[in-house]
Amino acid sequence: MQLGREAARRSGKEDRHREPMEPAAMRVLIPAAELARRVAELAGRIDADYRLAGGGGGGRHGGRPRPQEDPLIAVGVLKGSVFFLADLLRRLRVPVAVDFLQTASYGAGGEHRGEVRIRKDLDLAIRGRDVLLIEDIVDTGFTVRTILDLLRHRGARSVRLCALLDKTAARQVEVPIDYRGFAIENVFVVGYGLDHGERYRNLPYIAVWQAEGEPLATPAAPPPPTPERSMSGMQFHHTDQAPAAIGPYSQAVSVDGWLYTSGQVGLDPATGELVAGGFEAQARRALENLRQVLASAGCGFSDVVKATVYVVDLADFPRLNALYGEAMGEHRPARSTVQAAALPRGALVEIDLVARLRPGAGS
Ligand code: IMP
Repeated sequence: MQLGREAARRSGKEDRHREPMEPAAMRVLIPAAELARRVAELAGRIDADYRLAGGGGGGRHGGRPRPQEDPLIAVGVLKGSVFFLADLLRRLRVPVAVDFLQTASYGAGGEHRGEVRIRKDLDLAIRGRDVLLIEDIVDTGFTVRTILDLLRHRGARSVRLCALLDKTAARQVEVPIDYRGFAIENVFVVGYGLDHGERYRNLPYIAVWQAEGEPLATPAAPPPPTPERSMSGMQFHHTDQAPAAIGPYSQAVSVDGWLYTSGQVGLDPATGELVAGGFEAQARRALENLRQVLASAGCGFSDVVKATVYVVDLADFPRLNALYGEAMGEHRPARSTVQAAALPRGALVEIDLVARLRPGAGS
């Protein structure tokens, strides 16, 4: 793609005769284990949606298991999506065929103005087929917007988008992402398929690329939004990185130096749905949601003083303990555990926390 001068410098495509700038430091944004966990979750959802031919947008086979002769067609966008695609597809059980296309982007004045051309076209015919477009990152949105339009124009039965990364702040055209891995800040990232001047694709993690001489970018967590403060001195916290409060409550409230979180279950904030994968997947997601809520108030798990855990089946407790211990590290806050007859949305586990605010982090 042809990019604006700043974007080109950041992408390493500024001057093809020079080596791309060495980064002064790489800040790991998404570790390999986190990528693997999320890829497994996405695969579980995709599998569930497409396993029945009547599911994922099809209908021809009326809800029977998808036959081998009518596989889902996974379309990877070269080259950035190949690592993600390979890991994702290895986890799918639904019959799947694979194809690739590659684009080039052009625009007046060196800016990305949305003129996207197909450089390498599909080999497979997609008319009447269910197509899943797999992309590494959605930035302005021009690339996937163009490809999605093309796939629909060619008569695909259904077209959905699975994108590992979503730079929401950079978006210029609206793109519905059906399966989204992670929302990230508007920073230039490399690794796990993403490159800077064709380098760093084989890093097993996603890192923020940093030019020499530039200050290190802000930490992975987005800056906490300014919380709303009530007359009583309470602050109400919200982050888009955790499921939105869907009733008359807040994700967390702080007052007098303490933070009280609402209970979190294993809902994916991107979809509002419970994550697939049973108890362990839900517990991981609930803990990740809590980590994000804590971060929105400038705290971490090491600031937690008390946790309450609700499980539908106490037999799951050993598994919960392992994941909870992983999240807390050496820290050992007080905890109560309750077996609940039922939890919201049919969840298997819910956790709420009380944490001490760090000095200067709010009320
Ligand atoms: P869009 O058309 O602006 O959404 O651009 C999407 C394409 O730009 C991706 O497929 C990548 O090739 C590239 N891109 C955008 N952001 C990054 C980044 O942070 N690192 C590496 N490549 C990126």
